[in-house]
Amino acid sequence: MKEGLRVIEKWWMKSVGYQIYPKSFYDSNADGIGDINGIREKLDYLNDLGVNLIWICPFYDSPMDDNGYDVRNFFDVAKEFGSMDDVKHLIEEAHQRGIKIVLDYVLNHTSDEHPWFIESRQSKDNPYRDYYIWHEGKIVDGKKIEPTNWGSFFGGSAWNYDEMTDSYYMKIFSNKMPDLNWKNVAVQDAMIDVAKQWLNLGIDGFRIDAVSHLDRAPFEDATAHDGEKYPLDWYKFSNLPKVHDYLKRLHEEVFKPSDCVAIGEVGGSASIDSGLLYSAFDSNELSMVFNFDHNWCNNLHEVNHPKKLKTNVIDLKRVFSSWQYAFEERGWLPLNWLNHDQPRLMSQYGDYKYPLQSGKMLATALHMMRGTPFIYQGEEIGMTNYPFEDVSDFNDISSISSYRYHLEKNPDDPVLALRKAALRSRDNARTAIQWSNDLYAGFSTVKPIPLVHPNYKKVNVEQSIKQQDSLWHHYKHLIHLRRQSEISDLILWGSYHLLDADNPHNYVYLRRYQGESLLVINSFSRKKQTFDLSPYTIMGQYVTNYPDTRINKQTLHLRPYESIVFKVKENV
Ligand code: GLC
Ligand code: CA
Repeated sequence: MKEGLRVIEKWWMKSVGYQIYPKSFYDSNADGIGDINGIREKLDYLNDLGVNLIWICPFYDSPMDDNGYDVRNFFDVAKEFGSMDDVKHLIEEAHQRGIKIVLDYVLNHTSDEHPWFIESRQSKDNPYRDYYIWHEGKIVDGKKIEPTNWGSFFGGSAWNYDEMTDSYYMKIFSNKMPDLNWKNVAVQDAMIDVAKQWLNLGIDGFRIDAVSHLDRAPFEDATAHDGEKYPLDWYKFSNLPKVHDYLKRLHEEVFKPSDCVAIGEVGGSASIDSGLLYSAFDSNELSMVFNFDHNWCNNLHEVNHPKKLKTNVIDLKRVFSSWQYAFEERGWLPLNWLNHDQPRLMSQYGDYKYPLQSGKMLATALHMMRGTPFIYQGEEIGMTNYPFEDVSDFNDISSISSYRYHLEKNPDDPVLALRKAALRSRDNARTAIQWSNDLYAGFSTVKPIPLVHPNYKKVNVEQSIKQQDSLWHHYKHLIHLRRQSEISDLILWGSYHLLDADNPHNYVYLRRYQGESLLVINSFSRKKQTFDLSPYTIMGQYVTNYPDTRINKQTLHLRPYESIVFKVKENV
């Protein structure tokens, strides 16, 4: 019987993380925008929930073309979010509570308003020219066009024309986010300095944004399908060999000496093998990588109506399990459902008819796996997608471009275009956190800049804490089990074994460690399901989302979305 191993033990393996999107977390100074002091004021809330690691999305000085991922000054804070002093206080007060802080390290690009880029575009011989990726373009039929047909993530070309020197610069996100040229050692040095300065301020690690894109393929056209002018071909700028050289240098000079945690965002294009290349224990690159394979295991791309979303349970199990198995002895994984770039968990995989049961079940299914959990703000109270009514509701640059894209395909059906863009919109995850049923959901005392979901009177933190059987208390319980309970070691270090891989309704797995086993049973179904308990002797029950448990002659009878964790002895 294969058991878990405690191969390496690091502080961040025993952490439970929580992701904060500052703009919509909490507004402390009544200007309608969440801020650093707002996070500080909510530290007791986070502490009470039990998390001990927070990842905060960018709050650096920025023109906010992409809500802060377009950094203008790595060493300053955007006015609307506060000041460097606020950040220092936040770090100090978080540390007093035993909460570590991870910041976004945005190293693939800067804002076009960053002084490096302002210099770079001045002339071809400017000392900062090679900080970015410039190209003369190519001449086709006597006309100058982009060097390649590559598409960008936010729509349109991956190149932007700059009149100043009659050249193109590469930008795989928005026009206002020119890509840094990592081949240039000066860029590496400068970005290493950024990381070091933040570590010196006392932060505990980084979530490394868009890290897989630091190297590019030779500038040759991508294959276009459906006559697309700018095909988005991830392979042209993802997971290419030089990324590993850059990360090894960062590891050697920044991550290793500081013992910080370094979690890379490796996007939807990284295979498990490349995930291991980045973050296996012996990779000397990253601590962990976020992958997105489990984010879209449903029919989202085929349907037009959100209520018809159907989870592909077999696919979901396959995806989670393959990462769990591959990393078993070789690495460590972050465990997250979705983040600030995706729809809300409840709307993606939950069931609006059974919000409480399905929400709890989804939490259990994830939190009992091997890895470091990350809760996305508002997930713990079951926040849902926003009911967008008009394109003007969108703030996110990629949602707006997706709407335009769908409208181009269906010019007569703006309603369909809106619905399609809305289903995947990143703005779903960026609405104001619903703290109470006060005006503006208790997020602010003035009209908030982020949207406020109309369901805040029902779904809010105050209510969730008051109600003993809420989703919030379920999360708190799961965190407690992982951090300080008699089954902590099993949850932390146990091996993972998927059972009944082909069952389309139940997601069941075992964790094994030092002769003990944890049986994690989750029904993803509205209908009644069963599970055969005869191979096990139940030693204890640790999690449930129903008031009682129904076992009849060794058959477990599961109600809609029932979720149970037993400690068991495996009968031989
Ligand atoms: C990452 C971030 C996303 C951002 C992009 C560009 O994917 O999570 O929010 O738009 O990088 O920085
Ligand atoms: Ca504010």
